Amino acid sequence: MNAIIGQPTPRVDGPAKVTGQARYAAEFRPHGLAYAALVTAAIPRGKIAAIDTTEAEQAPGVLAIIHHENCERLPYNELEKRPQVDAQSGDQLRVFQGPEVLFVGQPLAVVIAESQPQAEGAARLVRITYELDEPSTLFQLDDGKPPSEGNAKAGRVPESERGNADAAFATAPVQVEVWCSHAREQHNAMEPHATIAEWDGDRLTLWDKSQWVDNVRLEIAAIFGMEQEKIRVISPFVGGAFGSALRTWPHVTIAALCARRVGRAVRVELTRRQCFTAIGFRPMTRMRVALGADADGRLFSTVHEAWGQTSMYEEYAETTLEPARTTYSCPNVRTKYRLIELNTNSPCPMRAPGQSTGTLGVEMAMNELAAQMGIDPLELRRRNYADRDESADKPWTSKALWQCYEVGAQRFGWTTRPPAGSLRDGRWQVGWGMATAIYHADRSACTAGVTLYADGRLVVRTATSDMGPGTYTAMAQVAADTLALPIERIDVEIGDTEMPKAPVHGGSITMASVGSAVRAACEALRDKLVPLRGNDKDAPEAVLQRHGLEMLQAEAESKPGNESKDYASAAFGAVFAEVRVDPALGILRVSRLVGAYDVGRVINPLVARSQCIGGMMGGIGMALHESAEWDPALGRVMNANLAEYLVPVCADTPALDVSFVGEPDLVFNPLGAKGLAEVALCGVAPAIADAVWHATGRRFRDMPIRVEDILGED
Ligand code: MOS
Repeated sequence: MNAIIGQPTPRVDGPAKVTGQARYAAEFRPHGLAYAALVTAAIPRGKIAAIDTTEAEQAPGVLAIIHHENCERLPYNELEKRPQVDAQSGDQLRVFQGPEVLFVGQPLAVVIAESQPQAEGAARLVRITYELDEPSTLFQLDDGKPPSEGNAKAGRVPESERGNADAAFATAPVQVEVWCSHAREQHNAMEPHATIAEWDGDRLTLWDKSQWVDNVRLEIAAIFGMEQEKIRVISPFVGGAFGSALRTWPHVTIAALCARRVGRAVRVELTRRQCFTAIGFRPMTRMRVALGADADGRLFSTVHEAWGQTSMYEEYAETTLEPARTTYSCPNVRTKYRLIELNTNSPCPMRAPGQSTGTLGVEMAMNELAAQMGIDPLELRRRNYADRDESADKPWTSKALWQCYEVGAQRFGWTTRPPAGSLRDGRWQVGWGMATAIYHADRSACTAGVTLYADGRLVVRTATSDMGPGTYTAMAQVAADTLALPIERIDVEIGDTEMPKAPVHGGSITMASVGSAVRAACEALRDKLVPLRGNDKDAPEAVLQRHGLEMLQAEAESKPGNESKDYASAAFGAVFAEVRVDPALGILRVSRLVGAYDVGRVINPLVARSQCIGGMMGGIGMALHESAEWDPALGRVMNANLAEYLVPVCADTPALDVSFVGEPDLVFNPLGAKGLAEVALCGVAPAIADAVWHATGRRFRDMPIRVEDILGED
């Protein structure tokens, strides 16, 4: 490999983004574009008794209004295999197919008009009367416990037991039991979700905010009973998503319905408030973690039980239990996951889904075990280091967590931690905390195509997305490296179903999956160049010119092999946090945050660091800010806006220290990259929570920890 891989290359798409040249879904302007506004449900459960559109129809600019009484019946054909981004079971929401209401915010009608303000104005004039039913809105009782055992049908991570964890816990010399939770979180990407649909006869084009254009095509084809070949989905830029653009949400279907009804291109753009209900969210999760250890702090029992939220129409389960099974060496482990059905929209993956929740529970319990035993929390992790994935009983393709601990501790200045409550800086109580981070590394089959032109330009094409992690840049680096071309000559084109098939842009798999495919395609092109080249040392474009060729193309697929059966793979990290608390005013600040990560080969340290600080900020959000406040009396989110839904901003965030340790993981894939977007969110919240305990001597186990908690009684 030449020097371009591993270089801090600035984003190749940066200039297009800062100059406004980069076009996002809502910004395309097909000829004759009309605009739509949704009318959404005001009750959590019941039926539409009557819908009156008379006044709305007469409003200026209105072209049509679609609702359950006048909507075409859509087939909603079953897919052979449910895409992994969808809920595991249940029925997706079928738009405008009946009068049933299942949650506040459910789209019940759509108004199409000549302009966006006209559509929104008319939408307010649609009168709906309801028949109310008793909703299910209770996720937790006053003591924080779940209201019922919950539903166990969903099984992304079925319950498991190795050894006998409950018996081992009962006889353990040291026992810790922790109940903890995090709030319902909303992705709140800067770019609101939007779809523009346009029909040309029986062919449909969708400009969509999507992390997986191929899947949008697949699902819309099934919903409308069409051939996939008749649908094109275009999504060149995604302004943040964090998992919210993985699924094909109802508004995509609505856009296609609208465009067919009025015979024009139509745009559906969600408002910020609708982004709380028309897409998904990270479900609030309550957990019980029980750890049993011997007198040296070695775990011999781990019990992890979790209750998550789901909707009335789908069961969405997360990988919450994985960390309990894989992070530490422990002979007896039992895990259990239950869902509580609520009258809300379906949850969906949000950055490090499940894993960030699971590490919160496990790492909080580990920190309480360390405190109870008087063992330094870092030392406790070292004593329980897992040399293999004991859950799958497989070796890791690579694991440099030990170096993460060492480098992170050294950069933080973590020596043996002083006693809780002993660090002071004037009026500030100062505390330290740490945690382990783990996120499974996966890889899927991907195809990429490359075209070399006689003018020396190379175009790389694959249907993947770039929601911000730097896909354009990293893929250009892989191509430049493989073909020894200057990066300026490489154009990366992505986000279009006309391009070679790519897997979901999520789960931190893009570098390992798409990167490996781009490498394979470039190698295939290089192989085609060899016989043309003979013995000369001409540049590739000179070879093409000499043979009178305008271009040379190659395409290749790359997919996981036996290594995925013989090994387990994960990215690892160690997070160290310092907080400052003013107990009189309730002020709580993160003053330092250090993360050291083993993510295999780092293709671009500049964008990799950017990914990590974004993930760490997400972790600060989980610890201190983010909460969609659910009112069980009304069955709705009370703060569905960016004024009241708090996210960490720069003023909440210290300089973030990121290090990468470890080696390229060439067992996992030919590039050696393990993926890093999600591991960086894991471990941050429990490290901060323990730092708050270390500063104040008080345990807060329900995230986010807010001013009112610090000022409140225990
Ligand atoms: Mo990520 S939650 O897989 O976009």
